[in-house]
Amino acid sequence: MTRDFFIHLSENKVLNSGAKRWGLKLGAKSVVAGTNIEEMIESVKELNAQGISCTIDNLGEFVYQKEEALAAKEQILAVIEAIHTNQVDAHISIKPTQIGLDIDYNFCLENLSEIVSAADRYDIFINVDMENYSHLQPSFDLIDEISNKYSNIGTVIQAYFFRAEEDIQKYKDYRLRLVKGAYKESEQVAFQDKQDIDQNFIRLIEYHLLHGKFTSIATHDHTIINHVKQFVKDNNIPYDKFEFQMLYGFRKEMQQQLAKEGYNFTTYIPFGTDWYGYFMRRLAERPQNLNLVAKQVFNK
Ligand code: FDA
Repeated sequence: MTRDFFIHLSENKVLNSGAKRWGLKLGAKSVVAGTNIEEMIESVKELNAQGISCTIDNLGEFVYQKEEALAAKEQILAVIEAIHTNQVDAHISIKPTQIGLDIDYNFCLENLSEIVSAADRYDIFINVDMENYSHLQPSFDLIDEISNKYSNIGTVIQAYFFRAEEDIQKYKDYRLRLVKGAYKESEQVAFQDKQDIDQNFIRLIEYHLLHGKFTSIATHDHTIINHVKQFVKDNNIPYDKFEFQMLYGFRKEMQQQLAKEGYNFTTYIPFGTDWYGYFMRRLAERPQNLNLVAKQVFNK
């Protein structure tokens, strides 16, 4: 119920566009690394100093105007320049709807190609984040077309989808981020039960660790992380074949601890004014994240 409530809020277009004018409110400051490139780069430098790499998400979704999608593309190109100029250890995460997937497939393809090409010049990796089911196949199509020309692109497999097993086999030669899945999906296409999702998540992780190119295990779930630690030990999987990923602001001590233990670690850094949908999905995943809201409100 609570999950559905926050997912519903995350999809509210009026609140999404209204929040862009509010600044970082409702506790979002704890999980969003600033509203501009300068603030975000400072956060990246702090994490790099702790041995943690970063993937940068210029927040944005629900984009239905070409001008807005083009502005997002320009901002992402500026982030690529900033990574290069500051020589920070970071790559980029992009949601296809931010650069026009809901407007026109070919327009989105052009925008994504330009971004991947710019990043390729500096050897920067681009991760295509996966959104809800209706965007899944078009996002894979974008990746298929772009990877005919560039190899600095990878994507996400969401374990709640029944088709995830087939997708992971098809994309095993890609660098993949594996997640449980964050959106509300129907029982026609996705597991609904937490236990089924967790089991499938573990199956996919083990498959890609054994057969895939490079695996990013993106979770805050210590049970899964401990399972992975044991699995890589038992199967002699070298540390340079995988990494753990978590979101900025969550389980900070565990992030530092995993990096200290010698595991590759990447923190997902969202920044920008379009923080509302992202923040509501985090509340949907874990209502305890409301504590962040309370802290922010009361520590003003
Ligand atoms: P989950 O929320 O299932 O929690 C499992 C258990 O872990 C909890 O019961 C608790 O014990 C513990 N736990 C979790 N969070 C905790 C906390 N903050 N403090 C203490 N204990 C905690 N989704 C998507 O659909 N597309 C995408 O592209 C991405 N990308 C992405 C990148 C990265 C880096 C991450 C970490 C996640 C995503 N996701 C995503 C989101 C993902 O699909 C999923 O919704 C969330 O990660 C929540 O699931 P978890 O696996 O983290 O644990």
